[in-house]
Amino acid sequence: MCGIVGAVAERNITAVLVEGLKRLEYRGYDSAGVALLNDQGELHRSRRVGKVSELEAALSQEPLAGRLGIAHTRWATHGAPSERNAHPHFSGHDLAVVHNGIIENHEELREQLKSLGYVFSSDTDTEVIVHLLNHTLKIQPDLTAALKEAVKQLHGAYGLAVISAKQPDRLLAARSGSPLVIGLGLGENFLASDQLALRQVTDRFMYLEEGDIAEIQRDSVQIWDAAGQPVVRESVQYHEGAEAADKGEYRHFMLKEIHEQPKVVQRTLEGRLGSDHVLVQAFGPQAAELFGKVRNVQIVACGTSYHAGMVARYWLEGLAGIPCQVEVASEFRYRKVVVQPDTLFVSISQSGETADTLAALRNAKEHAPDKGGYLASLAICNVGISSLVRESDLTLLTQAGPEIGVASTKAFTTQLVALMLLTLSLGQVRGTLDKTLEAELVEELRRLPTRLGEALAMDSVVEKVSELFAEKHHSLFLGRGAQYPVAMEGALKLKEISYIHAEAYPAGELKHGPLALVDSDMPVVTVAPNNELLEKLKSNLQEVRARGGELLVFADEQAGMRNGEGTHVVNMPHIHDALAPILYTIPLQLLSYYVAVLKGTDVDQPRNLAKSVTVE
Ligand code: F6R
Repeated sequence: MCGIVGAVAERNITAVLVEGLKRLEYRGYDSAGVALLNDQGELHRSRRVGKVSELEAALSQEPLAGRLGIAHTRWATHGAPSERNAHPHFSGHDLAVVHNGIIENHEELREQLKSLGYVFSSDTDTEVIVHLLNHTLKIQPDLTAALKEAVKQLHGAYGLAVISAKQPDRLLAARSGSPLVIGLGLGENFLASDQLALRQVTDRFMYLEEGDIAEIQRDSVQIWDAAGQPVVRESVQYHEGAEAADKGEYRHFMLKEIHEQPKVVQRTLEGRLGSDHVLVQAFGPQAAELFGKVRNVQIVACGTSYHAGMVARYWLEGLAGIPCQVEVASEFRYRKVVVQPDTLFVSISQSGETADTLAALRNAKEHAPDKGGYLASLAICNVGISSLVRESDLTLLTQAGPEIGVASTKAFTTQLVALMLLTLSLGQVRGTLDKTLEAELVEELRRLPTRLGEALAMDSVVEKVSELFAEKHHSLFLGRGAQYPVAMEGALKLKEISYIHAEAYPAGELKHGPLALVDSDMPVVTVAPNNELLEKLKSNLQEVRARGGELLVFADEQAGMRNGEGTHVVNMPHIHDALAPILYTIPLQLLSYYVAVLKGTDVDQPRNLAKSVTVE
């Protein structure tokens, strides 16, 4: 994922920009660059493929200095990773831009700009922005006013930083679908795509909102909102420990990470949604072409990540109409597999270093497509510099941030979001997804962080019902449809951190065996669907009650399920059926957390488990 850093100061800011880029390295990137305006009023840049350390080495050979500058780490979406495609991009000698996100109408703009005489030196969508701005400056010479005009022509997602040799007093920023934060200093100000990049220089931040344009000078910041009106954005003081590897106000990392989910889901969506569709380029430069050829999907993962894959199967087949198989990596890697033609191999992993998942990917890559192998490999991963990402053809990074608690929480929900983006992208490119449904789901995805916040507000309700489990040794989790893997994930969480034996079943399987286990000592947790399967689930629940089993049901507030003797209903905020698996994961995570707290187990480091399983 791309990263932006910018600064306007009285001092040479080269080191500040490079240090900022280093702090963004964890996000993953393939090249890095910096542009500075020197004291002679000339704009110079340095760009390198590979690590920021390579850019740093280049800068020590051929130093650049300046008091105004922008820098970038690039993750290729349009055009291969190369020096000519690395940012900053220039138009002429005076104007430089760095960009996060995807400009959808870049081809059309490129043609227009070419016909006006602009010469392109890269394959990127970003270069159209800098030439477009240059062209706008010919009509409107003020840089800020020109940027306001130019962005009106951009479709897609962007976070932009702009500098010009002709207006050396200012650093400009524009945000639409890709985050930007201004760092406030004394007599100097900064800009970045993530405040983490700027903590070395300041602890005061101002977050830009959607549609904002900012003019940042050494001693002032002016912002205009999406309607072009001047606005004041609140400045926030950052306190050490509010994020990073610190529990902050929470008792455990796991609880902190559960509560981070609205924010990290939002981050995972950033820059990947157009007005009514998913931006397919978010999966990489070749994604649109490759996705058009995909006829099957094979998902491979372990543990929680495997459960995310299981949910995705319901989505890929149900929404995008594409056949999908899902398998645990430790089985898949040792099995002789018959590969269907034009299969996309998808691996899912928080760490990107899980030995079985990596081995499965390596096996899959051994067979070339022309010998009946996989069409391409896609990694859905939380660590940009992991082996899985390096070895896959395509990547979609989740933006969960570091997950410290051994039991996976925010990694799972961000994986689900990434898999929904994959479903919508495949459906879109292959023409198998109804456009109205895609637009509806994109809108629902935008609302998802708010819905997750509502589910988290039920924390104390879930804490209360967790008392049901304090003295129990076994439990059953039931679900139907895409909520069945959610029940599996709920059962895994409970056993991992509270050591209570928990089994998950598709509710329809109950009477084929597990019903024999049900009595008053076996609580049954149910994730209710809010669709045509609800009535069927209600009959399964009757079967449990008739055997004295105590029920804990998580159900849509509109589903009409009520508390009763031995039945505890937790009403969930209403949500589109397709996104329910993401929302219903939250109370199950909270349930396992509070049961573990009651039992006094080591929540963050459960016995016998490791965070990253790098051995077989
Ligand atoms: C469960 C858990 C594990 C991991 C599994 C795969 O809470 O964390 O089941 O999901 O070890 O790890 P990754 O996703 O890193 O490949």
